[in-house]
Amino acid sequence: MTRVRLIVLTAVLLCFAAPPAPAGQATYAGSKACEDCHQEEYRAFTQYAKKAKSYKSIKILADKITPAELTECYGCHTTGYGKPGGFVSLEKTPDLANAGCEVCHGPGSDHVSSGGDPKLIVRKPAMDECKTCHNGERVKSFGFKPLTHAGAH
Ligand code: HEC
Ligand code: HEC
Ligand code: HEC
Ligand code: HEC
Repeated sequence: MTRVRLIVLTAVLLCFAAPPAPAGQATYAGSKACEDCHQEEYRAFTQYAKKAKSYKSIKILADKITPAELTECYGCHTTGYGKPGGFVSLEKTPDLANAGCEVCHGPGSDHVSSGGDPKLIVRKPAMDECKTCHNGERVKSFGFKPLTHAGAH
């Protein structure tokens, strides 16, 4: 195989593995990328939020379910699964393995690379955003209002 064809093939395979982020659109940086500048939030999050360990929750059950069923857990228990630049697998995207800062604050790569431009990050997540994961089926008694700050930092 020629070198060019090999590169094209690799590129095609990568496209299937993870939808690439369209140019100019922020992608996921991972919670660790926020640590240096937001030490308080990072410390509180990693220490107290269950989200910070949410990959472990599905890993514990991994041998009891099929690999296909396992991928169904990713949408809520990881960061950005199925979205451009989001979680693919533990091996390929270890920094996105848990539901991190960006499930609430949105993809943060532009905010990070700008050195913290507040216009490039979601300050206050809408409650509807929580419902994509905390839906009635999953968590019947989820009361949003008093929990705005819980589960975060
Ligand atoms: C991408 C999916 C996702 C989104 C969006 C999301 N959560 Fe969560 N959240 C989870 C998962 C998964 C857990 C449980 C983690 C575990 O126990 O493994 C969790 C746990 C929690 C908990 C349990 C308490 C704790 O210690 O963490 C609270 C409270 C919570 N989330 C609040 C919120 C709020 C409020 C929002 C919206 C601002 C939100 N979540 C958005 C996935 C999500
Ligand atoms: C629609 C989103 C969603 C999907 C899909 C999902 N989860 Fe969850 N899961 C949650 C949320 C939200 C919580 C937290 C509930 C709470 O604390 O109120 C949670 C909690 C858990 C917990 C409890 C952790 C604890 O500390 O009590 C386990 C275990 C778990 N999920 C495993 C799985 C597995 C395994 C799958 C895939 C088969 C899966 N989840 C799919 C949203 C989801
Ligand atoms: C469960 C959703 C959720 C997660 C996860 C989350 N945050 Fe937040 N964050 C919020 C909410 C809600 C606010 C408050 C917005 C407001 O009231 O203006 C906030 C506010 C902030 C602020 C603004 C200053 C402040 O404290 O009000 C910073 C900075 C921040 N978050 C950083 C982070 C970082 C870094 C992480 C990960 C280590 C993270 N957040 C994870 C929901 C979340
Ligand atoms: C290079 C340093 C830096 C990094 C890395 C960084 N931030 Fe920030 N962030 C800032 C600065 C500076 C502000 C503005 C603070 C202010 O105006 O009070 C800010 C503001 C914010 C705000 C509040 C926005 C607003 O409208 O007030 C949130 C939320 C936030 N950051 C989340 C994150 C998350 C999530 C990450 C990781 C993906 C992250 N930041 C990474 C420096 C950084």
